[in-house]
Amino acid sequence: MTALAEREGALCVESVSLAEVAARYGTPCFVYSRAALAAAYREFDEAFAGLRHLICYALKANSNLAILDVFARLGSGFDVVSGGELARVIAAGGDPRKIVFSGVGKSDDELSQGLELGIFCFNVESASELEHLNRIADRSGKVAPVSLRVNPDVDARTHPYISTGLKQSKFGVAFDEAPELYRRAAALSGIAIRGIDIHIGSQITALEPYREATTKLLELVDTLAAEGIRLEHVDLGGGIGIRYHDETPVALADYAAMIAALFRGRTEMLVLEPGRRLTGDAGVLLTRVSYLKPGPERSFAVVDAAMNDLLRPALYDAWHEVRPVRPRNEGPRIWQIVGPVCESADFLARDRELALAEGDLLAILSAGAYAMAMSSNYNSRPRAAEVLVDGGTMHLVGRRETVGELFARESRLP
Ligand code: LLP
Repeated sequence: MTALAEREGALCVESVSLAEVAARYGTPCFVYSRAALAAAYREFDEAFAGLRHLICYALKANSNLAILDVFARLGSGFDVVSGGELARVIAAGGDPRKIVFSGVGKSDDELSQGLELGIFCFNVESASELEHLNRIADRSGKVAPVSLRVNPDVDARTHPYISTGLKQSKFGVAFDEAPELYRRAAALSGIAIRGIDIHIGSQITALEPYREATTKLLELVDTLAAEGIRLEHVDLGGGIGIRYHDETPVALADYAAMIAALFRGRTEMLVLEPGRRLTGDAGVLLTRVSYLKPGPERSFAVVDAAMNDLLRPALYDAWHEVRPVRPRNEGPRIWQIVGPVCESADFLARDRELALAEGDLLAILSAGAYAMAMSSNYNSRPRAAEVLVDGGTMHLVGRRETVGELFARESRLP
């Protein structure tokens, strides 16, 4: 299910027209669908119904409190990568006992914060982090639940910037070094070994890398068990892709069936960290055409959203579908959809055949994941508003930033 529907020739999210959202809250504006979020979560959850599992939504994809709230109410756990994300989960009513803490550079403060909250597991990524965590746990009289994130050296066949499971990657512990580190962990008084973890990349559209990585991982689990190091859970990370353009995403039923086959006869609980698949299709970026600059070489449609709102096209050359909120027929041409930021990389879409007039509203699709979460204030642009639609109701879940807020924490010289 996607966030979008069409009614009387105009685009809607659930039963609210996007024109109405723009009239009330202005543009640029992210619009999310509660039904689409819930459907995506349930689809994931139900696909794995046959296995004891915990879904930990990776909130780096979209950490708006309302979205976390939707997932928390559905029973989701969370995958966090910073103290900030940890605080967000708690603020949104998430259960700390369902939090996994990932990330290659957790600070001592962040480790303490996780310990204090009694999170489910730390996904430890290096020998040094393990020692830090042990020291902090000992000092506070606590024991830290730990998984080691291992690097399975598997090619996820995705964009190099979002491929994380290769040997050259900064993430995780080298596969061959993992047993030694588990032995070390077993000897530490502040550490309780709980599981093992991988995350091989993002926007993955093939099952094979998962099969390869999981098979390797489970062999390691068995090797460890033979030594008396028994794991309670296996965390396969996130990474399942969506359709932005012409990709064929993995069917969750196939993914789950493959994992279930590999898990047959095993007792470990399965942990999953989906991000994009739960939120990507549940949001659009609503923007208005400010100026049209038709030209003999290239024609530019300058819109009021920019790379500071949606960085993916500039950073990964990512493709997002662009749909006019109220399509018109006259004179389509090939447009470059660009923002007002002073960078040639500030494009949202290239070479799109559309019939446009100044003032038209456009919906940029699949903008529920890694859009608002990666937004910035570049060019001193306030961050966009965020609206969550629930049936026929609009909830302003992120008001537009004000210009005053942009420099409120700064000061002039004395
Ligand atoms: N777990 C870990 C440890 C991760 O690093 C990530 C994503 C996830 C889970 C969730 O992955 P997902 O299911 O969303 O693929 N900014 C990029 C994506 C970066 C992903 C980083 N890690 C983009 O816009 O495509």
